[in-house]
Amino acid sequence: MAAIGSAVGLGNIWRFPYVCYQNGGGAFLIPYFVALFTVGIPLLVVEFGIGQWFGTAAPNSFKNVNKKWEWAGWWALISAFVISVYYSVIMAWCLCYLFHSLGLVWGENASVFFSQFLGKTSSPFVLGGIQPQILFALLFVWTSIYLILYKGVKSIGKIVAITVPLPTILLVIIAIRGVTLPGALDGITFYLTPHFSKLASPSVWLAAYAQIFFSLSLAQGIMIVYASYLKKKDDVTNNALIVALADGGTAFLAGFAVFSVLGYLSYSTGAGIDSIAGSGIGLAFITYPTAISHLPVAASLFGAIFFIALLTFGIDSAFSMVESVAGGIWEKWRISKKKATFIICLLGFLMAIPLATGGGSYWIDVADHFISNFGLVFVGLMECIVFGYIMGAENIRAHVNRISDIKLGRWWDYMIKFVSPVILIFIAVASLVEMLNNGYEGLPSGALAVGGVVVVITLVISIIITKVKS
Ligand code: TRP
Repeated sequence: MAAIGSAVGLGNIWRFPYVCYQNGGGAFLIPYFVALFTVGIPLLVVEFGIGQWFGTAAPNSFKNVNKKWEWAGWWALISAFVISVYYSVIMAWCLCYLFHSLGLVWGENASVFFSQFLGKTSSPFVLGGIQPQILFALLFVWTSIYLILYKGVKSIGKIVAITVPLPTILLVIIAIRGVTLPGALDGITFYLTPHFSKLASPSVWLAAYAQIFFSLSLAQGIMIVYASYLKKKDDVTNNALIVALADGGTAFLAGFAVFSVLGYLSYSTGAGIDSIAGSGIGLAFITYPTAISHLPVAASLFGAIFFIALLTFGIDSAFSMVESVAGGIWEKWRISKKKATFIICLLGFLMAIPLATGGGSYWIDVADHFISNFGLVFVGLMECIVFGYIMGAENIRAHVNRISDIKLGRWWDYMIKFVSPVILIFIAVASLVEMLNNGYEGLPSGALAVGGVVVVITLVISIIITKVKS
């Protein structure tokens, strides 16, 4: 349940729809499901299998295979930390929107309201001031994460028993409301109609793989540390399948909720769906509020409930990062989980503050794009090498098959050793080339360079941590 909580989050409700929209709607679904089956599920089995086998966090899992590879485990944790920094800002937006929904203050034009809310500047290099309400919300988010975790891992079980099923039910309700709006069918057609010509673009494929890494919380040590709490005989493959399908299913459902509303917006404004909301990270903050405004009864109550749903979806993903990083710190320096949790939350909050400025949303986009598309993909590649070759995929499979109902065949070894790494290398290189030629989201190339530097810095920090004495 906690693993599902980590996987299902804003990635499904906020990120999946906009990435899907950026990559041509229905064109994206094919690569997405291909990515789920070629890399998502096979790597999830690796992470669960390894975590359960070694019973340690990511750095030691890599180290147990071969001392030289500890840094790759830290790279996973640092990447998770960076994600949580900007992720917490999106959660802060949700919290502010929770209050705004009480008065439906976005009015007729949720898109204009969103820019005002962010105090959005004209360029990433103009930060503007800090938005006080976002700052307060951020403080609340990090305090909540800390309060949930400081008592230890046991409290996670109680929290996820509420924060997983509740928002799922609410999402179903909002999706039903969405598809019954006039014009919804056009939006859903855009969402579900594949455009095969788009499949020739490597960046569509990379976006799909990146979305899988992000959404399944892969290559960040999270699933490894959660699996380390499993008992020796607990099923691995079954759990991996359940988590992966719950995650994919929730994203697919969220797609209906967003695209039906896009169809409705296009119907009421007369503009085409592919030009309507302005793609990017604001999509959900424009479409959902619009849908809420159009509810016939109790719109603001419903709005509040909906943003509570987003927050409860997001919180388990956020604290899973802390568990992963605190696990690594504890094993290396024996700093208690309680202390480590405090330090991580404090650092996360401080680093998120610059993102609460008017230029922050550009940097969230850049950080998200680079960490998911390159950082996580590289760490995933390291996992294929270290666990697939050095440790041996066949050994992991033998272990996993001994304790799992569903038996993996040889195909799984080939996935980890050949298919996944080849795909990951190919798409990373191809889309880097494409980005060098075409840029990304019209952002200045200086901003993209910073994104690249962030990925390099995460790697350097991981190497430094590895060298520091334990
Ligand atoms: N899986 C999460 C989601 O879908 C996103 C996520 C991945 C995340 N790693 C994280 C969130 C680390 C916070 C911290 O929403």
